[in-house]
Order: sequence, then structure tokens, then C-alpha cells
Amino acid sequence: MRRVSGFLIGVGHVGRAFMELLDQKGTLLRDRYAFDLALVGAADRGGVALDPRGLSLSQLLSIKGARGTVAAHPQGRPGASGLEAMDQVAADLLLEASPTNLDDGQPGLSHIRAALERGWHVVSANKGPLVVAYSELAALARSKGVQLLHSGAVAGALPTVNIGQRDLAGCRIQRIEGLLNATTNYILTRMEQGISLEEALGEAQRIGIAEANPRLDLEGWDAANKLLLLSHSVLHHPVSLRDIQVQGILEIGANDLRQARARGETIKLLAVAEAHGDGYKLSVRPRRLPLDHPLARLGGQEMGILYETDSMGTLVASIRERGPMGTAAAMLRDVIAIFGG
Ligand SMILES: NC(=O)c1ccc[n+]([C@@H]2O[C@H](COP(=O)([O-])OP(=O)(O)OC[C@H]3O[C@@H](n4cnc5c(N)ncnc54)[C@H](OP(=O)(O)O)[C@@H]3O)[C@@H](O)[C@H]2O)c1
Repeated sequence: MRRVSGFLIGVGHVGRAFMELLDQKGTLLRDRYAFDLALVGAADRGGVALDPRGLSLSQLLSIKGARGTVAAHPQGRPGASGLEAMDQVAADLLLEASPTNLDDGQPGLSHIRAALERGWHVVSANKGPLVVAYSELAALARSKGVQLLHSGAVAGALPTVNIGQRDLAGCRIQRIEGLLNATTNYILTRMEQGISLEEALGEAQRIGIAEANPRLDLEGWDAANKLLLLSHSVLHHPVSLRDIQVQGILEIGANDLRQARARGETIKLLAVAEAHGDGYKLSVRPRRLPLDHPLARLGGQEMGILYETDSMGTLVASIRERGPMGTAAAMLRDVIAIFGG
């Protein structure tokens, strides 16, 4: 039985869901994959908790719930940063679930760099550092012989990256179409049902699917970030956000949706990569889709992806997921991909 030591940074919705899942799945990891994942460190804004023997997940969850910070743990260090604490414990794996920052990728970028430099594998739900520095981080991971996985950062549990990297191995991917942002899909679906964009956004925020800053969803940037990560990790086509044509849904009105319906179409915010010469043209914008298009029928909180390939035809996957558990489960899937082989 292999013992894997993990360090979790970010104990919010996703980090807590990950700990709950790990608590439930310990036996499955041991029986099916022959490893045990112990959290030797956890960090939030209040400080860190460290225990080289492995922190009790239920104790940590209840302390976080009651006292607001993992630093209130008996082995806690109030005020210490996750980055400092990475020097004070030996680990094999960084689990990064701190907030996404698309300006400079911080604080996650420093956490991921530090982990890779120490030869730790990294599983990140946080898009920010990858959007800002994908090529640098991927090269650093390669040079250290460790893995940098981020499947939960590209539409949660929908296996966008895994299908493209693993299941379509050997194909030339000619086109990707993605409904990669649940909030805008929810809003467009509800607007088709007759409510305003503002009301629909309020609903999306109440059920917890909107980003903290809804501009990222509404203006198309969240979908563009995910398309950028697919372009790097699946299409081997390194790009920056400047290379993606981005238009959100703010210009879409009830009238546009009614007119589309009258023509047997619907409007979706689609992220598209289309083969162009040796590379790809990338865009995120509202597009009219015929109602029999496989992504057109996805409403509410669903997301989906379509891959068109040269030798495996067209493959479509979709998901309906609520809350952060799907993303936490995608992080666990990445952990198993690294240590469960
Ligand atoms: N929520 C989802 O369904 C979802 C889906 C896909 C991807 N993601 C990504 O997953 C990440 C986490 O999302 P979330 O919803 O869990 O966010 P969240 O609820 O806001 O939690 C963020 C966590 O990071 C901690 N944190 C903030 N700054 C920190 C720092 N400098 N050092 C250490 N910890 C710090 C916060 O500490 P405090 O607890 O002390 O505030 C909190 O525990 C984000 O990057 C998000 O974009 C989320």
C-alpha cells in the first residue's frame, strides 16, 4: 500500500468537498488503487494546519465550519501562509483550490511553481495560474518528471481534457465545440422561458453556479479561459487570451431568443476551436444552433463538449452537475490518474 502525502491550499467550496469525498472514498482508494492519500497540510486565508502523520479530515472540516479557519486546529499555525508551510512538511502532491485570479494567477501561481520545483505533482481546480503561465508550468513539470493535472478546471467533472488527451489519442481533432459555462447556459435557458437576464443571473447566483465575479461568465471570459486550457493541453496549440475572439451574452435579448426559436434554432454561448492551417482559430460567442444539434438540447445547469476528429468521427459528452462536488471529484480523478496506475 503506497502512502501519498497531499497538501491542500484553499479550503472553500471545492476544498471542503474534496475533503468530504476523500473521507468517504478512503477504502475505495486502498482497495481499488492500492494507495492511501493523507493530507499533511491544509491552508486557507487564516493560516495552515500541518501534521506529517495526516490530518483527521472530519476534525478539520468541523474546525473549519465552527471557527472559520483550519489554523484553529491543534496543529494550526494562525497567520502562516500556505507557501511558507510547504517548506515545513514533506509531500508528494499539491492540491490547489484557492481563488482564480486571471490578472497574475496569484496566489495559486506561486503555490504551483513552488510545488513543481520541489518535485511534487500538482492537481489544480484553479484556472488562474494555468491561464497566465501554462507553457512555463508545463515545462517545469516536465523538467521535474512530475504531473500537472487540471481536469476539474475545465468544466468540473465533464471530462473535456481527458477525452481529448486520452480517448482521442492518435486523432487529428478538427473541431471542438464546447458549452463550457453553466451560468450562461442557465441564463439563456431561463431567458428562453421568459425571464430577464438580471433575474436569471440572480437565480444562478442563488444556486451557486455563477462565478463570484459574474462578468467573467457573462462576457465570455470564463469559457475563453477553459478554451485556452483545452488549446494548450489537448490541441498542443499554445495561445494567450488575446488569440481568442471573445463575445459574451450581454447583447442577447428576449427577442433574439424568440426569433431563433421561430426558425427552429436556439442560441448558446459556444466555445469553438476550428482547425485552420497548421493550427486552430479560437472563439467564444453566442451562436445559433439547430434544435437537433447535440449541444442545443442541453439546458439549465448542463455543460457539454463535442469533438470532431479525422478518424474517430464525432464524439459528444455532456454533464449535469450541481455545486462544487463534481469539481472535487475531478480532482480526485486526477489524483487517481497520478498514483493509481
Ligand atoms: N466552485 C466550483 O464549483 C468550481 C468549479 C470549477 C473550478 N473552481 C475553482 O476552484 C477554486 C476554488 O473555488 P471555490 O468555489 O472553492 O472558492 P472559495 O469557496 O472562494 O474558496 C477559496 C479558498 O481559498 C482560500 N484562500 C484564499 N486566498 C488564499 C491564500 N492566499 N492562501 C491560501 N488560501 C487562500 C480561501 O480561504 P478562506 O476560507 O479563509 O476564505 C478559501 O478557503 C477556484 O479557483 C475556482 O475558480 C470552482
